[in-house]
Amino acid sequence: MSLSLSAEQPAVPDVADDGVWLECIECGETFAPFDDVRYTCDECDGLLEVRYDDLPTFDDFEGHGVWRYADALPFESGVSIQEGSTPLYEVPRLEDEVGVEALRIKHEGMNPTGSFKDRGMTVGVKVAKELGVGRLACASTGNTSAALAAYGTRGSMETLVLLPAGKVAAGKIAQASLHDARILEVDGNFDACLDIVQELAAKGEVYLLNSLNPFRLEGQKTIGLEILEGFLTDYDTVPDRIVLPVGNAGNTSALYKAFRELVQAGELAEDDVPKLTGVQAEGAAPMVEAIQNGADEVRRWDDVETRATAIRIGNPVNAPKALPGIRETDGTAVAVSDEEITDAQRALAREGIGVEPASAASLAGLRKLRVNGVVDDDERVACLTTGHLLKDPDAAAAAGGDPEPVPADTADILEHLKQ
Ligand code: F0G
Repeated sequence: MSLSLSAEQPAVPDVADDGVWLECIECGETFAPFDDVRYTCDECDGLLEVRYDDLPTFDDFEGHGVWRYADALPFESGVSIQEGSTPLYEVPRLEDEVGVEALRIKHEGMNPTGSFKDRGMTVGVKVAKELGVGRLACASTGNTSAALAAYGTRGSMETLVLLPAGKVAAGKIAQASLHDARILEVDGNFDACLDIVQELAAKGEVYLLNSLNPFRLEGQKTIGLEILEGFLTDYDTVPDRIVLPVGNAGNTSALYKAFRELVQAGELAEDDVPKLTGVQAEGAAPMVEAIQNGADEVRRWDDVETRATAIRIGNPVNAPKALPGIRETDGTAVAVSDEEITDAQRALAREGIGVEPASAASLAGLRKLRVNGVVDDDERVACLTTGHLLKDPDAAAAAGGDPEPVPADTADILEHLKQ
């Protein structure tokens, strides 16, 4: 089975609870959503998706933030810190420079903990409470750990985070620490951390809140819904393309799911679905490799490296959901160098939009695809920037200019300013 845009809405299985169930994307097996802790299919270990008997239309959405989209989510409300409703910035100078019909920046760094992860956690932590689990845990390149710590403590739950030692930006560790997570610095990369936390979850030691958890991706669908609503309001049409950084490919999967559900609800024509366009750093680009080679599976990269530490990932666990997402929407994937990422980070900063390196990969990728002609000049494009500049103050300082030391004297400073 592969996730296709045109799939019929399936019959509601007996296991459904209030019209919600879990379904394996590989073998189609269905499961009750909240009876047991389950991350993958009992039968074939395939990835699971949350399914609904009743899919909402745009008219059903009301209110603010992630929970505006409650009708597209498994609950009416969650453990919330007012996540979502992030800005969709106009950037006329960048739009001209890149040379597209319209360019907007969806800045997910404006969420409560400074990244899109909050959208997934407001749903994921609510599910954890519903299931009555004990300790919450994740492996993380940083942002997931910051969000899990904040939402976990807000939900009065204990949190454990596994981070690759020496490879997580300072702001993110500070957040996880102050929001009361127990932090384990693992002598290994992110993929090793994720292997371990999956083993801990399988032993029942922790409840896993990485994007393997299908409920987290439900919250992240709302990024796509907000972008579409924003474009419909401002341009009377949905974007032709959404460009986003890719690590575990959770967002790519979540946006694709949002589009499939809108198609099934009759709210979006199959031909109008935005082209999902993934961007990875050259040193960590297994999804790009798979898309470019037309492969059905993604090869795990054991050695990954990039300045964009948030996406320093060699084994994108959501690939079985994201590969069809990119292909079925007629999208693509592209790799960019660390220098291109920093250039794009500076270009966004010149517009007043402060993002961390991984976020700037989206603009860097768009620039590259525009130059090589894959993106046309008549396209309306949204670039997703996933995390805030202050997440990685060291990268920001390195990309910016150096402070100039001066004496505490006005005359000296006036003299200095002439230089
Ligand atoms: N951008 C940022 C800033 C991220 O933190 C991440 C993932 C991504 C992009 C990639 O998103 O996995 O949905 O493709 N960060 C995870 C973490 C891995 O642990 O914070 P994806």
